[in-house]
Amino acid sequence: MERVKLKVKRQDGPHAGSYWQLFDVPWKPHMNVISALMEIQKHPVTASGERVTPVVWECVCLEEVCGSCTMLVNGRVRQSCSAMVDAIAPNGETIVLEPMTKFPVVRDLVVDRSRMFEDLKRVRAWIQIDGSHALGPGPRQSPENQETTYPLSRCMTCGCCMEVCPQYNDHSEFIGPAPIAQVRLFNSHPTGRMNAQERLDAIMGRGGLADCGNAQLCVEACPKEIPLTEAFGELGRQVTLSWLKQLFAK
Ligand code: SF4
Ligand code: SF4
Ligand code: FES
Repeated sequence: MERVKLKVKRQDGPHAGSYWQLFDVPWKPHMNVISALMEIQKHPVTASGERVTPVVWECVCLEEVCGSCTMLVNGRVRQSCSAMVDAIAPNGETIVLEPMTKFPVVRDLVVDRSRMFEDLKRVRAWIQIDGSHALGPGPRQSPENQETTYPLSRCMTCGCCMEVCPQYNDHSEFIGPAPIAQVRLFNSHPTGRMNAQERLDAIMGRGGLADCGNAQLCVEACPKEIPLTEAFGELGRQVTLSWLKQLFAK
C-alpha cells in the first residue's frame, strides 16, 4: 500500500451543515488514524486537488488512555489513536471517519462531551475531602474491594458506551452508562461511601438507572472492558434497598 484513502465527514461549526471530503495521504509503517490525519494537516488538499481547511480532531495521550480522540472509524466508535491503518484497511480500502453522533459537533471530528461531564457532577463522581491540608492516611481498602473498584476506575470518559446506548439521545434525560458506573466506583470507596446516599438519590431520579433498557450494548463497546452491566445490577440492588429503607422510615 503506498497511499491511504480517507473519507472524512466535515462540519465547519456547531450550526453548519456537514459534508464529505476525500483525501489520500502517503502510507507510512505503523501508521494510525491520527498520523493519517496529521498528514492531511500538513498538506490539506483533497484527493481531487482542492486546497481546503485542515481537518480538526482531538488527541492527547496517543495510547488509549485519555479518550479524547474517540470518533467513528468505519462506522464503529473507537479511539482513533489505536486504529492502525494496516489493520483497518489491509488492502487499501477507504477509511471513513465521522464524529460521534450522541454529542454536539464543535468542528469536524471534535465533539462537545460536556453533557457527560455534567452528569458526572450530578452523581458526585469524586471523593469529598475537607480542604487541601494534610488529612493523614485514609482508610485502607481491602484487596477484594480493590478487585471490584480497579476495573471501574479505568473509565476514560471516552463516550463509546454513550454512542451505542439506544436510551442515550437528544430526547432522553438518561445520564448513560459511564456516570452510573462511577456511582458504583465511588460508593465502594471507604471514604466515598460517606456520600453514597446522595449518589444513589441522583440515579434514583429522572434519567437515572431505571431508564436503562438493559440492551448491554455499552459493555460490548467499552474499550476498557468495564463491567458496566454488573455495576448496574449491584446499583439496582442498592437503589431498591435504599427505597425500602426510605419507605419504612416514613
Ligand atoms: S445496558 Fe443498554 S440501555 Fe443500559 S446503559 Fe447499556 S446500552 Fe444503554
Ligand atoms: S465506561 Fe468505557 S466506554 Fe464508557 S466512557 Fe468509560 S471507558 Fe468509555
Ligand atoms: S489520544 Fe488519548 S485515547 Fe487516543
